[in-house]
Amino acid sequence: MTKPEHIAIIMDGNGRWAKSKGLPRVAGHRAGVKTLRKLIEHAVKLRLNAITVFAFSTENWQRPEKEVDLLMDLFISALESEVEDLHKNNVKVTFIGDRSAFSSKLQNSINQSESLTINNNGLSLNVAANYSGRWDIIQALQSVASEIKSNTLAIDEINELQVASKLSLANHKDPDLFIRTGGEQRISNYFLWQTAYTELYFTETLWPDFDSTQLELAIDWFSNRERRFGKTPEQVAQTQNQ
Ligand code: FPP
Repeated sequence: MTKPEHIAIIMDGNGRWAKSKGLPRVAGHRAGVKTLRKLIEHAVKLRLNAITVFAFSTENWQRPEKEVDLLMDLFISALESEVEDLHKNNVKVTFIGDRSAFSSKLQNSINQSESLTINNNGLSLNVAANYSGRWDIIQALQSVASEIKSNTLAIDEINELQVASKLSLANHKDPDLFIRTGGEQRISNYFLWQTAYTELYFTETLWPDFDSTQLELAIDWFSNRERRFGKTPEQVAQTQNQ
C-alpha cells in the first residue's frame, strides 16, 4: 500500500460541532486540539513522514475579536502542554506563515517548540498559522526579486525549482494527500503552488469527530488513486513494471 509522505489538513467544522451540542464555538476548537493530539499519536504509530495542519489562515483575523483572542490563547496553552510529549515522540515542530503578527508570548511559545524539537527526525508536524497560499507565493517572489536586484540571479534563471525553493516547507515533498473535514470542497487559500498534483480528499466529518479510523480511510482512498502526473495510464503502468 502506498502511504502518503506528506498530508496537508484543513481542520474544518469545530464551530458547527460545538453548535450541534449547544456549546460555544471555543469548545469546538478545544475539542479540535484533542483531535489533533490523537491524530498525531496515530500518525507517529503509522510512521508517517509529515503532516501540515492549517491552524489559522490570514483571513481568520476577520473572525469576531473574542474568537480570535480565544484561539490565540488556545494555541499558547496547547503548545505549552503538548510540546514535551511531542518531543518525547521524536516529532519535529515547524510553524509556517507570518508569525510577526502574533503576540510576543505566542511567538515565544512557537520559537521554543521549534528549537526544542529541531533535531528530531520522526514525524514532521508543520503548523500553518497566519499563513495563506498567496502570501507564500508573494514572499517567494520577493525573495527571487531581491536576488535579481543583487545580481545573484538572472531573470532567465527563474524556473519552477527556483520559485519552489523559496516557498515555505521547501525542504518537504509537496503534500501528496490533502484532507479537508467539515464538508466544504475548496482549498481556501491553503497550499496553492504545492497542491498542483495533490490528491484531494473531502469528508463531511466535522474535525472534532475525525479519528484514527477516519485517517486510515483517507489513506486507503489515497493508496487506491492512480497518480499520473500528466502521463497516460499506460505510461504509468510501464514505469511501475520497470
Ligand atoms: C476551523 O473550524 C478551525 C479553526 C479555524 C481552528 C483550528 C485550530 C485548532 C484545531 C487548534 C490547533 C492548535 C495548534 C496548537 C496547532 P471552524 O471554526 O471554521 O468551524 P465551522 O466551519 O464549523 O464554523
